[in-house]
Amino acid sequence: TVAVDADTLILGIETSCDDTGAAVVTGDGRVLGEAKTSQDAIHAPWGGVVPNLAQEAHKAAIDDVVTTALRNAGVDASRLDAVAVTVGPGLSMCLRVGVVAAQDLSAAHKIPIVPVHHMEAHGLVARLAGGTELVRFPFLALLVSGGHNQLILTRGVGDHVILGSTLDDALGEAYDKTARLLGLDVGGGGGPALERLAREGNPRAYAFPVPLRKKKNCDFSYAGLKTAARLAVERDLGVPDGDAAFTTIDKAKRKIRADIAASFQAAAVKHLEERTRRAVGWANDALAEESGDARTLSCVVVAGGVAANESVRESLARVAAEVGLPLVTPPPRWCTDNGV
Ligand code: KG4
Ligand code: ZN
Repeated sequence: TVAVDADTLILGIETSCDDTGAAVVTGDGRVLGEAKTSQDAIHAPWGGVVPNLAQEAHKAAIDDVVTTALRNAGVDASRLDAVAVTVGPGLSMCLRVGVVAAQDLSAAHKIPIVPVHHMEAHGLVARLAGGTELVRFPFLALLVSGGHNQLILTRGVGDHVILGSTLDDALGEAYDKTARLLGLDVGGGGGPALERLAREGNPRAYAFPVPLRKKKNCDFSYAGLKTAARLAVERDLGVPDGDAAFTTIDKAKRKIRADIAASFQAAAVKHLEERTRRAVGWANDALAEESGDARTLSCVVVAGGVAANESVRESLARVAAEVGLPLVTPPPRWCTDNGV
């Protein structure tokens, strides 16, 4: 273990998927410098992250990203006290690039490696964003990314109870697939593209079903909603599965596409809202049952790539207000994969 205080300097490295990220953070949670490159443009033509292309891109970028983060922080590598690196879950080929970089730094500067759990980091970054006074343990975290969709009762570092997970797709994945289906340019990420198109649409134009209403638990499902959106595309646009030629902007069709996007988003977000509301109740019950533990939830955290979405933030703010808890959403750059 490393004794940690305000003078402790830790370099964080993240290469679990398609972003190469690095950051220097102090032991008391100040972020001194960050750097990140995204591979969106590399994977866009393939319609998803291609692991060996991602690995190559990480290899090409990692040294520069680490150097830039150190430079932005004004910290020389020789002053680092530890190097932290995402060890999973993620694409193993990609994770390895970060781990090798961390091992090199560890050997060169004789500093320990801190292995980081990808999803735990998505949740705990809220303590940097919101401060440890506000984001005290225990808190409820909704983690929504391209690979995960989870509601977690976080009782401490390394002490989590998963209250619900997705039965099929994660919401980010559903956003990405639906964005391609709607013929959007997903070069900057499918989620943000769909969110932009949805702003022009009517969220009540299509009555897409809110998933799992009959299942009174905290699990998620996005496969059915994705299919409903696909059927609407096929019926009202006459376009089979994400036809690339469909990016030409036809006024009338753009309106239909925007309506589908907005209706998809409305149902998807409603699903998050309903599950999170129930999870607050479950978490409170679980805490009440733990003998001798009179702790209550300090806040609701929403993190992971999809937490960058405005309507996700708005709707979760509503839920949090309803249950009388503060909502903590890290800034978008700390919601997607990053070194911090
Ligand atoms: O956490 P993250 O960067 O990587 C994973 O660990 O998966 O999340 C990436 C996911 C992608 O599916 C992306 O489309 C989605 O987050 N995303 C969004 C938005 N920004 C990123 N989804 C909806 N709206 C957004 N604004
Ligand atoms: Zn992630």
